[in-house]
Amino acid sequence: MNAIINSIGIYVPEKRIDNHYFESIVDTSDEWITTRTGISQRFYAAGNEYTGDLCVKAAQNLSVRYNKDLSDVDFIIVATTSGEQVMPSMASQVQTRLNIPNAGCIDVYAACAGFVYGIILAKGLIAAGTHKKVLVIGAETLSKITDFTDRTSCILFGDGAGAVVVEACDENHIFDALTGTDGSHGKDLYLAHQNVPINGEPVIPDRNLHQNGKVVFKWAVSTLIDKIQELISKNHLKPGDIDWFIPHSANIRILESVCSGLNVPMDKCLESIRNYGNTSAASIPIAWYNGIESGKVKPGDNLLLIGFGGGLTCAGICLQN
Ligand code: ACO
Repeated sequence: MNAIINSIGIYVPEKRIDNHYFESIVDTSDEWITTRTGISQRFYAAGNEYTGDLCVKAAQNLSVRYNKDLSDVDFIIVATTSGEQVMPSMASQVQTRLNIPNAGCIDVYAACAGFVYGIILAKGLIAAGTHKKVLVIGAETLSKITDFTDRTSCILFGDGAGAVVVEACDENHIFDALTGTDGSHGKDLYLAHQNVPINGEPVIPDRNLHQNGKVVFKWAVSTLIDKIQELISKNHLKPGDIDWFIPHSANIRILESVCSGLNVPMDKCLESIRNYGNTSAASIPIAWYNGIESGKVKPGDNLLLIGFGGGLTCAGICLQN
């Protein structure tokens, strides 16, 4: 069975945080943050607002916007690194809060690549013929797992959620995908619940995100260039056939370096880094949604989505909007 995505929704919390906020808590400046990351603002969930709430609101936004009935969804996948509980899954909580009676539910822990992994899994379930309508959500409240004493990371993150429905259909609109991982970089981007080493190296077990920004940056640029080229040729396409590239928005300089390495103009790349910061699993659907809202992304456009993050791992897929 083939698959299509023809509905998307997002939710972003109301509390806007500009760069000047960080000048009051760490030694940094609006100018440094803007020039080194591209970020000008991000949004934080309220104290009583959690990842589960963002998931529900993004799915409700999709449902209202596309007049889409979600009651017959038969599988829910939530990609997140910032769920409130490990068990029950975020997906199980979405199932009951949205009153979806007959859905299998799992969470995917693939950091900023999680949303694309979710689409790949949903396509696989539909291709196997076991499921027909899969709700895929990427959602994060990274502000709740941020070390606000670390100026190299706290300035980066934002909160948000995006949701799509992957549905069975006659014609195929979701094409070939790829995945890749280098687990030897595990310690370069992690969140530890227990004081157990990663690859033999000690961790800070404080349930906050920790990263080696420079290593992640370099890995992201070289991996994205290689994997995007591989994905385009796997789909028997040329770079010019892709209407919109939607890589995970981690840093505007990563996106600029990747576009330059691929010889693709930056205005072919949709980002959510400037106005939302790095929202991890939510960054790709937020950029995609805003591309549609602004009139850039049209029905039938060829999209290339690619996420990368903690693992270090990456996942990409080509599909039609
Ligand atoms: N304000 C002012 N100065 C700073 C700040 C800051 N917020 N952060 C770092 N600096 C300083 C450093 O201390 C360093 O000073 P020094 O030269 O005196 O030692 C200088 O700026 C340059 O530091 P670099 O680390 O070289 O800065 P870089 O240009 O690499 O930018 C950044 C750092 C923004 C973290 C970049 O490496 C990056 O974006 N990496 C990728 C991060 C990423 O993608 N993470 C994934 C997270 S996804 C997830 O976890 C959900």
